Amino acid sequence: MAYTIALAGKGGTGKTTMAGLLVKYLVKQQRTPILAVDADANANLNEVLGLTVDDTLGHAREEMKKGQVPSGMTKDVFMSMRMEQAIVEAKDFDLVVMGQPEGAGCYCAANTLLSGFLEKLVGNYKYLVMDNEAGMEHISRLTTHDVDVLLIVSDTSRRSIQAAVRINDLARELNIGVKRSCLIVNQAKNGTQTDAIMKFLGDSGLELLGSVPEDEAVTAYDLDGRPTMELPETSASVKAAFDLFARIVDGS
Ligand SMILES: Nc1ncnc2c1ncn2[C@@H]1O[C@H](COP(=O)(O)OP(=O)(O)OP(=O)(O)O)[C@@H](O)[C@H]1O
Ligand SMILES: [Mg+2]
Repeated sequence: MAYTIALAGKGGTGKTTMAGLLVKYLVKQQRTPILAVDADANANLNEVLGLTVDDTLGHAREEMKKGQVPSGMTKDVFMSMRMEQAIVEAKDFDLVVMGQPEGAGCYCAANTLLSGFLEKLVGNYKYLVMDNEAGMEHISRLTTHDVDVLLIVSDTSRRSIQAAVRINDLARELNIGVKRSCLIVNQAKNGTQTDAIMKFLGDSGLELLGSVPEDEAVTAYDLDGRPTMELPETSASVKAAFDLFARIVDGS
């Protein structure tokens, strides 16, 4: 089974940025094959990775639910073909976008096929990096299989760190098979008080992995519409993030 790292955290803290840098790190370490999963309904991981997406798994599910299956084709074959089409293949990794959540009505049949397909798909990869939408509701949907590392991203604000602790509590309550939870404090300013953050985390069970500085290069790439993944490895944020990822991936 693929080693799964899922990103979570309050809105705008840098989940998608960290997911992109994590894919960059895994590619650099030749930890391939890698599957990036964009599970945010408002998908934008592809921009960070520099890829164009034409299709989502949500579309495939919608078509099946509406019965838009060509005659002479079983639903099974149709769904697997449509899902195959939804995988974007980059040079060193693949990306699949979940798309919009289901609307009203019964999606049971489509969902059963979808989870079966995802299960099979995941088996083809060594690493799975899953970007999620902000908040906590989404955590309860992370049920497909175990999460090796839940990477919770916050900024340096108390509210954001508090949200990280709540997300971690919820993940534990829901028993969704998270083996390890780590906090990355992103967009850290000079003199960020690690001690104060550690104290705040207390005995919450959320481990502080470390911090990634606020980086002008990230802002500049973002404004230019350049993929964050193309940032040079000498950038302060990339260096810091790679050090943290080494600790979760290589256990160093
Ligand atoms: N270390 C950093 N330094 C400077 N800017 C950053 C850093 N990390 C992220 N950003 C910027 O912060 C903004 C939000 O980042 P990102 O989209 O990754 O957050 P998110 O948590 O995925 O947001 P959402 O909750 O909307 O999905 C982006 O403009 C991004 O470029
Ligand atoms: Mg995001």
